[in-house]
Amino acid sequence: MPAKKNPKKTVIKKDEKYVDGPRKMKAKGLQLLKGMKDVLPQDQRYWQFIFKACRRISNSHCFDWIETPILESTNLFIRTTGKDSDIIKKEMFSFTDQGGENISLRPEMTPGIARAYVEHGMINLPQPVKIFSYGPVFRHDKPQAGRYRQFSQLDFEILGDGAPAVDAELISMSYFILHDVGLETNVHVNSIGCPACRPQYRRLLVDYFRSKRKNLCEDCKERLNKNPMRILDCKEEACQEIGGEAPQTVDYLCDDCKTHFMKVLEHLDEADIPYTLDPKIVRGLDYYTKTTFEIFLVQKGEEKTGRQTALAAGGRYDGLIEQLGGRAETPACGFAVGVERIMLALKETEADVPPLKQADIFLAQLGVSARKQAVRLLEELREEGYHIKANLVKDSLSAQLGFANKLGVKITLILGQKEVLDKTILVRDMDTGSQEIVDINKLIPDLNKRLKKIEESII
Ligand code: HAM
Repeated sequence: MPAKKNPKKTVIKKDEKYVDGPRKMKAKGLQLLKGMKDVLPQDQRYWQFIFKACRRISNSHCFDWIETPILESTNLFIRTTGKDSDIIKKEMFSFTDQGGENISLRPEMTPGIARAYVEHGMINLPQPVKIFSYGPVFRHDKPQAGRYRQFSQLDFEILGDGAPAVDAELISMSYFILHDVGLETNVHVNSIGCPACRPQYRRLLVDYFRSKRKNLCEDCKERLNKNPMRILDCKEEACQEIGGEAPQTVDYLCDDCKTHFMKVLEHLDEADIPYTLDPKIVRGLDYYTKTTFEIFLVQKGEEKTGRQTALAAGGRYDGLIEQLGGRAETPACGFAVGVERIMLALKETEADVPPLKQADIFLAQLGVSARKQAVRLLEELREEGYHIKANLVKDSLSAQLGFANKLGVKITLILGQKEVLDKTILVRDMDTGSQEIVDINKLIPDLNKRLKKIEESII
């Protein structure tokens, strides 16, 4: 029998708290599902950083927060995202619930938000309604770097305003979110027309692709009948080559769509947003009309484009609200950013991401009465807003100081039997090792002074 090869072991460095990359679980069938990802504590700083940038921009543009359910009727997505889109045909997590209803995990946020707009009569609010949402979305796609089966989107929608300035506002918001977190990007923008001009363009496109049918991939042969515009963003080399010579939507826009698109571009020029006109940005979702866009990372002067690399994407969808039973001709436009993709880009470009706030203070205690008082003191200090840690299990002072050292706190408070009797506490500066006895009733002003001094000394 051939000798078994030694399985590769992941070496865990002693000081590493959490390790990336799943290792084999001993119990079979309990490991992380394919395409899913744990967001470990070490990644929280990226998460928070991205989230804060989005919140800053959503606040300054006066967006209201909305949360819609993760589960919705499957029909909602079929009617909106589109029955011939890849998402609906191949990627939905759909099932029948205990009540026999066909439901799905949302593959994107726009349909749920549009449904909520109609269902809650938001048309009666002053228009436009600007809404922002955040949460997980699910697509059963082939997993790879930057493409997961559960991922998080931050989604922005402006409903009830058809002005080109709205498209430009949303494009510049997405650009500035990425700029604020330290990423250089470029916007790819296109217009895919409206129900008035698209049929003529579609006919031309089908004629063109029919003449090249034998060289298209199998998926695109199928798309030819149902979703010919998607051939333009197929990732197969042969299809890309054929698509490169295909008629372009912008040459067949009706006057309304053409004027709209020109104005969007003018606004982008005024706002100094870098963009490229890209006829391949046709988007895979059925509801889009007019403007469509995707934003790509620029690293060392090179753009990272491709079907599965956009950091943010969106467009206008003027027919969707009516399609859901809302008031006719309610225009809308929006975009979503993919948190995991941005996180990868931040890591790849070694962007400057600030660490999360850690504990400032450690409280060490010695003896039974000190431990009792420590519990109360911890609560008091936390109420004052200090980030404070303690280890109420360890008894030895050196073990507790060693722990405080590992945490990297600036100050350790030491409470022993003597200090309890004297109503004092020892305050130790962890950098210099110097200690001072402080009256317990003056501890808070003393700590405020010390921490302020430490903060001022950090450049
Ligand atoms: P989308 O292009 O399907 O658009 O997704 C938006 C963003 O989500 C992408 O640019 C990407 O950053 C991220 N993303 C998409 N798929 C994955 C995946 N499998 N793994 C990780 N990240 C992914 C929409 O979802 C539209 N609802 C956007 C929109 C809002 N249009 C109008 N309003």
